[in-house]
Amino acid sequence: MRQFAQHDNSADHPADQRPNWRILRSLWPYLMEFRTRVVLSMVLLVLAKLATVAMPLALKYIVDALEAERGMQAALAVPVLLVLAYGALRFASTLFGELRDAVFARVAERAMRRVSLKVFEHLHRLELSYHLSRRTGGLARDIERGTNSISFLLRFAIFNVVPTLLEILMVAVILLLVFSPGYVLVVLLAVFTYLVFSIRITEWRTRFVRETNEMDNRSNTRAVDSLLNYETVKYFGNEGFEAQRYDADLVLWEEARMKNRLSLSALNSGQALIIALTMTVMMWMAASQVAAGTITLGDLTMINAYMIQLFVPLNALGFIYREIRQALINVERMFGLLEQPPRVTDPEEGTTLTMGGAARATDQAVGEVVFERVSFGYHPQRPILHGVDFRIPAGRKVAVVGPSGAGKSTLARLLFRFFDVEAGAIRIDGQDLRAVTQASLRQVIGVVPQDAVLFNDTIFSNIAYGRPGATRAEVEDAARRAHLSQFIADLPEGFETMVGERGLKVSGGEKQRIAIARVLLKDPPILILDEATSSLDAHAEQVVLAALNEVAARRTTLVIAHRLSTVRDADQILVLEAGRIVESGDHETLLAARGAYAALWQAQSRERPASA
Ligand SMILES: Nc1ncnc2c1ncn2[C@@H]1O[C@H](COP(=O)(O)OP(=O)(O)O)[C@@H](O)[C@H]1O
Ligand SMILES: [Mg+2]
Repeated sequence: MRQFAQHDNSADHPADQRPNWRILRSLWPYLMEFRTRVVLSMVLLVLAKLATVAMPLALKYIVDALEAERGMQAALAVPVLLVLAYGALRFASTLFGELRDAVFARVAERAMRRVSLKVFEHLHRLELSYHLSRRTGGLARDIERGTNSISFLLRFAIFNVVPTLLEILMVAVILLLVFSPGYVLVVLLAVFTYLVFSIRITEWRTRFVRETNEMDNRSNTRAVDSLLNYETVKYFGNEGFEAQRYDADLVLWEEARMKNRLSLSALNSGQALIIALTMTVMMWMAASQVAAGTITLGDLTMINAYMIQLFVPLNALGFIYREIRQALINVERMFGLLEQPPRVTDPEEGTTLTMGGAARATDQAVGEVVFERVSFGYHPQRPILHGVDFRIPAGRKVAVVGPSGAGKSTLARLLFRFFDVEAGAIRIDGQDLRAVTQASLRQVIGVVPQDAVLFNDTIFSNIAYGRPGATRAEVEDAARRAHLSQFIADLPEGFETMVGERGLKVSGGEKQRIAIARVLLKDPPILILDEATSSLDAHAEQVVLAALNEVAARRTTLVIAHRLSTVRDADQILVLEAGRIVESGDHETLLAARGAYAALWQAQSRERPASA
């Protein structure tokens, strides 16, 4: 609750940030995708505006015709036609506006779709560390706001600001053609004053609007938090204290809302004053010309109608101006995500990893993994690995053990190329990881992590995720080999059981076996097991280990383990301490050496004599 409220506040601080108007240019490609639609909606826009601008003209002729016919009983034919035309124009101005929206809707919606997808794909391209250091919730909000803002900018910047300016221009031209330049001068001056005033006051008001939102958030958070803690409040008889604290927030909220309201009144009054002054001046000019006989009564009506008509869209401009500013900031933030360059990149030639050449056909194990004096650190100031050097022959199993924080998982991340090594190289069947595409590399590596995370979907879909397109029989076979058959048979809904968000509805051991089944389905020649059993109890561990042995058979395996009992069968065991391999050899050799491994072994045997 509170976290969200805080995030809200920080994100809604647009006033401290200057919008970058150049962002508007980046919308161009989205408009170009549907040229015809854009052109058509522009035409409709102009038609709508023409109808709007023609209305006062029709009004003028109606009044003039009536004036001319006064005293005569001649047919009312001319005014009737004009009145009908007036009605038609009024309807046309709305109709063309709606048609324009309908035609343009596709452009705006498609732009939103394109941008959302682009950002999503880009986020998947960015490296792991970016995601680890950023809150997904905030990211999702940035994307949502950004895409909505794009749609807003497309619709409003084009269909509100531009048409309003267009209308002002048309009115000015008509006034200039029909009357003296004096009217045009007054109109332009009025519009200018009105805009400057509205923008200035709106900017000044932003502070109060934001304050109101903040206070609203704060008092809301407080109220909800207090009600969530209902029992605690009762335990301590603190209802009075809670009310007092809530009221203290409400006082601020009240103040903020008052200021907001008053500043809005100031804005409205000021705008009304400008309008009234303009109307008075215009009417006075027109009235004196009518009196002098230079213009007709119809002209006066027309001028009046133009003025009223002109100030309606102008009125909205203050609000739209503020919204556009906010939208620009949102879009800029979202595009900022796109500018984040990925650190791990594919080679330009797009070479794919080839596994062992002919060996695969002759049913020999492939996928020799070599770490060559690998050094690495997440931050330049803090190296994690120092010249780590080892080899996993094809089809063999190498275990890495050592204290937490030694850099074991880092080895796995480097092999999967979540990061690039700083010095040295990692090779698979002789090929440097950096020389092949990430897709082809990741295709041949299966990972069973310590805490497998499942999608909120059925068990079946979660296993099938290992190889989209796998047949039902293949998925069932993978489940069987991962020792899941019994578990699934016991479930009332079997394979169709939903696992819940992040797989919370299945136990750790079951989750782990689903993850293993997934990897079995993927059937990669190289396997990484990163503490795949350390979060399990002794019983679950035995079952998972049995499943793991199934996967690891005949695959090149890098197993990282906390419990030494799970790796004693490895072909080679490396003891990693503070980013350096301090010992290596098989279980027996290392025990005989009486070094770090032997000490660890002894310590763990004392802790869990049963499993030793
Ligand atoms: N994404 C990261 N950014 C910065 N430091 C990290 C990151 N991941 C791990 N580290 C640090 O690197 C060191 C080694 O981590 P890790 O390889 O996960 O250790 P372990 O041997 O327990 O698996 C730890 O000190 C950890 O704090
Ligand atoms: Mg680890």
